[in-house]
Amino acid sequence: MTESATAQPGAEQPSGDPIGSGEKAAPSRRGFLGVALGAAAGAVIAGGAGFGAGRASAGSSASTGSTGSPAADTVPFYGTHQAGIATPAQDRLAFAAFDITSHDSQAVQVMLALWAAAAARMSAGLSIGATETAPQSPPVDTGEALGLSAGKLTITVGFGPSFFDDRFGLSAKRPAALIDLPTFAGDALDPTRTGGDLCVQACSDDPTVAFHVIRNFARIGRGTAVMRWSQLGFGRTSSTSTSQVTPRNLMGFKDGTNNIKAEDTADFDDYVWVGAETDQPWMQGGSYLVARRIRMLIEAWDADYIADQQNVFGRIKDTGAPLTGKTEFDTVDLNAKAADGALVIPGGAHIRLAAPATNGGQKILRRGYSYTDGTDPETGSLDAGLFFLAYQKDPRKQFVPIQTRLGASDALNEYIQHNGSGLFAVPPGLSAAGDWFGKSLFS
Ligand code: HEM
Repeated sequence: MTESATAQPGAEQPSGDPIGSGEKAAPSRRGFLGVALGAAAGAVIAGGAGFGAGRASAGSSASTGSTGSPAADTVPFYGTHQAGIATPAQDRLAFAAFDITSHDSQAVQVMLALWAAAAARMSAGLSIGATETAPQSPPVDTGEALGLSAGKLTITVGFGPSFFDDRFGLSAKRPAALIDLPTFAGDALDPTRTGGDLCVQACSDDPTVAFHVIRNFARIGRGTAVMRWSQLGFGRTSSTSTSQVTPRNLMGFKDGTNNIKAEDTADFDDYVWVGAETDQPWMQGGSYLVARRIRMLIEAWDADYIADQQNVFGRIKDTGAPLTGKTEFDTVDLNAKAADGALVIPGGAHIRLAAPATNGGQKILRRGYSYTDGTDPETGSLDAGLFFLAYQKDPRKQFVPIQTRLGASDALNEYIQHNGSGLFAVPPGLSAAGDWFGKSLFS
């Protein structure tokens, strides 16, 4: 057994002292996992809130093995809502779904507390602990992000429907909105890219920083959870702030024009944040995340002629303008007809079927990324597309009806295939050190 594994439950480090930094004699010989696990276990078992105090808070970068200047390029980790939802979308994504392997509710809470403590440090641009430990113990932090800026790192955690089975006595806490998603027309879901008890969305402008989160969460969770599937994403496919230029997806079209933007706080209240209407108070201030891995049949798309591509979306490829307008943000006129009486934006156009006007006024916050995972060994074609992420107040009223309509009639269906899926309840933000993901769910 390593030294870190023998750390005593409840062992504390001085406030602000880096985790396993080697600065202070006693803590320096204990790894993050041992010390924090002990402290977390103590707090969880005692029902206390002490875990993380002085540990999750950012210490001095000089002594902690900082991943850059803590102040620069960081997004606050604590707050009313989890970061990574209203945060303007960063450039890179590392996403993972985990399955819990333990049947011990306290072990799960300890893991979530450890994740929270580590997330607070990483979000502040800090490593989770020392990389230079006692010679015979593994480093606390895996080290690949040392010296890198946080790149506006956000870490967002959610609970899947399967988390609420009978393992942890939480079935009565399952929100009604956390449904098992129905099968949609055209679905070709791969079970190895679908579902999960937990999800972690790590977004940063630096791919190594985002990956570092998933890797270290998996490491912290070893013995309690295993990674079920994961997805890397590059190139945000949505603008989620008016300060951002609209990016293009792999089909070459501007994506995110008619999205909810961070500045639309009324839209966030109406369509994204769970409010007092929820049947589960622990979800108030949270949101529901739909993840869909949508492969693009790129070779077929690239052979399509431009007028058809534009009719598929209902927008001009170059400018992003609707077929009924001249510039990107011109109002979409779904009723406009050409001289021959045909709809200018065709009946099957993606923006017609997805628009709030077609869906009882409902909107979603899209926050997806492009992905590529090499080539299909059977066909030689690219495995690339959109890793669709969308946040909403209630998927029963938002994603499900919209995707039912799109799955049935979207002209885009000829060029895409949904092959991975997940729905997760993302609880509200963490208040301060000592809080953890879903803490009130367990109380
Ligand atoms: C590979 C799959 C997809 C691609 C390439 C894609 C691409 C696009 C593009 C280019 C636009 C127009 C620009 C914009 O307003 O953002 C758009 C709009 C939109 N998409 Fe998608 N999309 C995909 C899947 C989905 C899915 C699965 C949903 C939801 C179930 C969805 C919901 C929407 C919505 C709500 C809009 C805005 C419509 C409006 O109000 O004008 N999209 N999408």
